[in-house]
Amino acid sequence: MRQDANPAGAADPGPGPGPAPDPYGVRGHVVIVTGASRGIGRGIARHLGRRGARLAVTGRNPKRLADASAEFDALGIEHLAVACDVADKAAAVDLARRAHEHFGRLDGLVANAQSFRPVTPLEEVTESDMDLLFDTGPKGTLWAMQAVLPYFRAAGRGRIVTMGSAVGMSGGAGYGPYSASKEAVRSLTRTAAREWARYGVTVNCVCPASAAHRRPPADDPDRRAVFDAMYAQHPMGRDGDPDADIAPPVLFLLSDASQYITGETFMVDGGGQMRA
Ligand SMILES: NC(=O)c1ccc[n+]([C@@H]2O[C@H](COP(=O)([O-])OP(=O)(O)OC[C@H]3O[C@@H](n4cnc5c(N)ncnc54)[C@H](OP(=O)(O)O)[C@@H]3O)[C@@H](O)[C@H]2O)c1
Repeated sequence: MRQDANPAGAADPGPGPGPAPDPYGVRGHVVIVTGASRGIGRGIARHLGRRGARLAVTGRNPKRLADASAEFDALGIEHLAVACDVADKAAAVDLARRAHEHFGRLDGLVANAQSFRPVTPLEEVTESDMDLLFDTGPKGTLWAMQAVLPYFRAAGRGRIVTMGSAVGMSGGAGYGPYSASKEAVRSLTRTAAREWARYGVTVNCVCPASAAHRRPPADDPDRRAVFDAMYAQHPMGRDGDPDADIAPPVLFLLSDASQYITGETFMVDGGGQMRA
């Protein structure tokens, strides 16, 4: 007997008259994107919004969020902007409630936001470094996932995309707390995928490479040399663009087309880290 992991997902109607429904889009879907005020999250939000998704976008810094919101307005993207800290569990619950109340439905979550610390050798890592990375990484991701689950379960369908990192897998020197927090995010992704598939919810992780906006300034040549060396070995020899390179696979994972994929990690890094 056929086991359908997503009973509410798009079924292939088979051959027949008229155009087949499009499983690849997100038009009309309501998606929460955390950390959409800059960087990758902003590119993902722009990409989804320009393809008809309605968005609840967040950031911590109200001024930066207002700047992103003004750009989305100018592009005609229907959205709700909410400033909140991903480490705040109550704020995650409130965000999901407000998004559902505002749009009347909830289809997807991109748990993108995470705070970062400057590169630090492991022997100098402090308790506050570990707390910040874990509070905003795996814990923040979990609070957001828990907050949307009741709405997804009621709808019989939901899509969650989390954010991991290649340095979590490689153990990047100087990135101890960050790497550990990102591997914890990937682990939670698999557990959520196992526990929630029965509700029609898929949960997948994307490991992006799009750090041009984090390139050290010209007056820090040592760190800049390390950064540039990363791309010297890169198969494509370039950084990813948030909108053009990172967002399209995220859109796919939010769409019906990905309904039979869950618990997976996708390297969206131009082949920077190839895994067997
Ligand atoms: N860039 C890369 O190449 C790369 C590689 C691997 C993984 N990643 C992952 O991809 C995601 C996005 O990376 P990015 O480079 O675009 O990051 P980024 O430029 O530092 O932007 C982070 C976004 O998250 C928000 N944010 C940070 N801490 C927050 C908090 N505690 N509460 C609420 N919002 C918070 C920021 O808002 P504010 O402006 O208000 O601070 C901003 O919108 C992260 O999960 C990162 O770990 C990135």
